[in-house]
Amino acid sequence: MIDVAQNWTPDSWKQDKFIAKHLPRYEDPAELAAAEEALAGFPPLVFAGEARALKGKLADVTAGNAFLLQGGDCAESFAEFSATNIRDTLRVILQMAATLTFASKMPVVKVARMAGQFAKPRSAPTETQDGLELPSYFGDIINGIEFGAENRRNDPQRMLRAYSQASATLNLLRAFTTGGYANLRQVHQWTLDFMGRSAWAEQYKSIADRIGESLDFMEACGIDIEDQPQLKTASLYTSHEALLLPYEEALTRQDSLTGEWYDTSAHMLWIGDRTRFEDSAHVEFMRGINNPIGMKCGPSLEPDALLRMLDILNPGREPGRMTLIARFGHDKVEAGLPPLVRAVEREGHPVVWSCDPMHGNVIKSDSGYKTRPFDRIMAEVKGFFAVHRAEGTHAGGIHVEMTGQDVTECTGGAIAITDAGLADRYHTHCDPRLNAAQSLELAFTLAEMLNLELAERQADAA
Ligand code: PEP
Ligand code: CO
Repeated sequence: MIDVAQNWTPDSWKQDKFIAKHLPRYEDPAELAAAEEALAGFPPLVFAGEARALKGKLADVTAGNAFLLQGGDCAESFAEFSATNIRDTLRVILQMAATLTFASKMPVVKVARMAGQFAKPRSAPTETQDGLELPSYFGDIINGIEFGAENRRNDPQRMLRAYSQASATLNLLRAFTTGGYANLRQVHQWTLDFMGRSAWAEQYKSIADRIGESLDFMEACGIDIEDQPQLKTASLYTSHEALLLPYEEALTRQDSLTGEWYDTSAHMLWIGDRTRFEDSAHVEFMRGINNPIGMKCGPSLEPDALLRMLDILNPGREPGRMTLIARFGHDKVEAGLPPLVRAVEREGHPVVWSCDPMHGNVIKSDSGYKTRPFDRIMAEVKGFFAVHRAEGTHAGGIHVEMTGQDVTECTGGAIAITDAGLADRYHTHCDPRLNAAQSLELAFTLAEMLNLELAERQADAA
């Protein structure tokens, strides 16, 4: 049976009854239509079968048998597009996954915020400098970050450049993950030079040594690692916020095998905290695609509204379809999350609960930079796990903004970044990201938390 959502088409979100927030206004409708038409003729970036495979893995997370690691840029940019950046972010994801898997013995589902994470919701549609009012910066897929009339013009042609960057990024990720770079034998090589200064680099080295010994042992027993795809390659999926609906619609295709619709711009898409309300055009669009989808859950989300949203987005209650990404803030998670978890449990909706400890913890530093103190990020992660332990549910995943570069954007961490040090290498196009050392430190804390959860589960079963 073809499972197509009722009264849904890839462009049904355009109906007047839906409210489209955070979408750019393009001056020339003909120019927009031409770009959409070009995109619609381009090949899909991912194959529907891959999105279904990811859904299956997320169903394992839902069941409590795996952990979701989702991370990457806040906003990808045309300027930071290079093989080095792609490789370095990938290697930190691989390091985090190896640490988590080794320390918790739980399979880790890896999903990158890469190859399409370009569009950003902004609190104000315009920005004024010296009396000149121009559109705000909405991400490189829409306009440019430099303040100037031509640069800030919302330009539909940018969607084509973003598509081309996404396809080259995905191509390199596929090459690295299947061509040998992600082979577990390389586990030592993933360490970045500058991480030597972090206390966690030592701990990572010891895990890497033990993984190496395990592989030696397996080989001595006659298992050829080159014949084991699970050890030789990694599966990495892509994701981004499905914010720029003209782009997402143009890449939405009907799968020839099943007749189902998939947004082929990424394996997984999510709805942001600012577009997840009832009658939202974004929710309407997401309801009809069959990819696994995420939804950000912030402090303003009421349990009843969440349940109504789940009924719209996952009426068939398919495990692996929905990932709920909690982003409360370090001081709000322990009070705000339990009512949502209980409502979802009561109604029996299968979901992955993931923790975004980034978006509720942004502050303006004394030096004037937007930053996220690392101790608050850790506090939110610990609060998230504590809630799930108390509720008897699985803390299923983490969603972070991170980079493989040695940036100074979030204060704190083992190589303590000070407020005054933020200026050294503050490169983000939007929100402050964890650097490689901070990401690894987070992975060790996560492993510790996961072990606590597993120990509790075993004690309950005994
Ligand atoms: C984001 O993930 O980049 C983002 C904007 O998050 P949120 O929708 O949770 O604010
Ligand atoms: Co962000």
